[in-house]
Amino acid sequence: MPSLFDLDGRTALVTGSTRGIGLALAEGLAQAGARVIINGTREQAVADAVAALNAKLPPAQRANDRANGRAIERAIERAIGRAFDVTDEAAVSAAFEHWDSEGIHVDILVNNAGIQFRQPLVDLKLADWQRVIDTNLTAAFIVGREAARRMIARGAGGKIINIGSLTSEAARATVGAYTAAKGGIKMLTRAMSAEWAAHNIQANAIGPGYILTDMNAPLVANASFDAWVKSSNPAQRWGKPEELVGTAVYLASAASSYVNGQIIYVDGGWLAVL
Ligand code: GCO
Repeated sequence: MPSLFDLDGRTALVTGSTRGIGLALAEGLAQAGARVIINGTREQAVADAVAALNAKLPPAQRANDRANGRAIERAIERAIGRAFDVTDEAAVSAAFEHWDSEGIHVDILVNNAGIQFRQPLVDLKLADWQRVIDTNLTAAFIVGREAARRMIARGAGGKIINIGSLTSEAARATVGAYTAAKGGIKMLTRAMSAEWAAHNIQANAIGPGYILTDMNAPLVANASFDAWVKSSNPAQRWGKPEELVGTAVYLASAASSYVNGQIIYVDGGWLAVL
């Protein structure tokens, strides 16, 4: 009997997945049986991540082909990739049209792509505000809309997992654009569930705590910030990208079929304590 958490036969698009949290989530979803689509803006980085995952993971078996009237299993690569800018509506549409033409259906979307820009609001240029909002929030709408249109048309349901943040719930000074975007991610997740749950599409979010990623490297290297992170969560440490995988597999699987509009904080307990 397949496990509630088995993703075999599903295809998961993870935006911003050439490194960090996105790559860890892509690998984790693949380990749970999904075929994954790696995305980033740089062709070489996408190709490198795809190659690394396919070197690690066995090919998936898919009975997509038929011969002499019998479904035949054929091995397909567990990871494929496409470089495109998630803030570019035309590029996103072209990506989904390409997958349509290949018979590739996105069953699971992880809206992970995100950037950080640390500057006090009074000094923040509008262009920098807009860039963060476009990448961290608007892109989740653009990609989510394309995925949901096809999930609804196929009538097979689907899963949308938006990546939030502690700043979906509480603000930190000097990351105002990021905080506004991640707060928006929490409410966009609820808006998606309000409209799409009836189509058996579960839209939920993950709110990572302070995770050891390239984006946070300057913070880890700052002794006082490092001490603040460790003293502010009961686990008294930074999280690791792979510690988000279990929640992602749960939200991507049949195990969460009646969960809608939620954000699950994977933060060492940060938001649970004073
Ligand atoms: C920062 C960090 C945060 C964390 C994360 C916390 O500058 O405060 O980059 O944004 O990465 O979002 O959940």
